[in-house]
Amino acid sequence: MNDQPEHPATPAAPGPVTTHDAPDAPGSPSLRAQIHQDWIAHGKDWTLPGFRAVAVARFGQWRMTIKPKPLRAPLSILYRVLYRRVRNVYGIELPYSTQLGKNVVFEHQGAVVIHGCATIGDNCIIRQGVTIGNRTLDKPLDAPTLGKNVNVGAGAKILGKLTIGDNAVIGANAVVLQDVPPNTLAVGIPAVIKQPREATRP
Ligand SMILES: CC(C)(COP(=O)(O)OP(=O)(O)OC[C@H]1O[C@@H](n2cnc3c(N)ncnc32)[C@H](O)[C@@H]1OP(=O)(O)O)[C@@H](O)C(=O)NCCC(=O)NCCS
Repeated sequence: MNDQPEHPATPAAPGPVTTHDAPDAPGSPSLRAQIHQDWIAHGKDWTLPGFRAVAVARFGQWRMTIKPKPLRAPLSILYRVLYRRVRNVYGIELPYSTQLGKNVVFEHQGAVVIHGCATIGDNCIIRQGVTIGNRTLDKPLDAPTLGKNVNVGAGAKILGKLTIGDNAVIGANAVVLQDVPPNTLAVGIPAVIKQPREATRP
């Protein structure tokens, strides 16, 4: 069974399995606890596509902790079926290898593409039409890192190996090609950095 994600542009993060990849490792919340927390973060609405996408990604991550590989195979088949369903029905591509923090919310569905090597920190909000991915085909593994509490507006594209600082706000339809410092606003194409009038939480 091949455990690589579905899309060639969203490869599995290379390197050893970390505690993040192993939610049931000692000291880490269980899969059940994580999904329960995600359900709360999504307004306790289990029908929301965003919640379902996150739950499937958590499951996909958890299954990688099952050893040996043949024991994991049926879970991998189930993961692939669920992943494809979320992708094809809701238009959310969220591979299991994306590093997902706590309380990450996918507020809406449709045209959401997240790279398998991307990191999304605690309490981030991702909206419809958002791409968090590589910038050029010759660097397929380059992917953004979002800090905590990053608020990504509808249609925003965050491209390449760059870092978005904690509490940053990415405006609707921005194309972000550079690092964004913490507590700032990035708007426009290509995005420019501005100071927010006040902490903005649309
Ligand atoms: C980025 C955002 C949060 C800024 O809100 P704000 O803090 O009130 O900021 P302001 O309106 O004062 O804008 C600050 C500057 O950024 C500009 N700006 C704001 N949003 C912009 C955008 N999406 N694209 C381009 N420029 C934008 C403003 O024109 C202003 O420019 P100026 O300094 O030259 O006057 C908001 O405009 C936005 O894009 N929110 C996304 C919300 C969303 O996706 N909603 C969908 C829900 S389904």
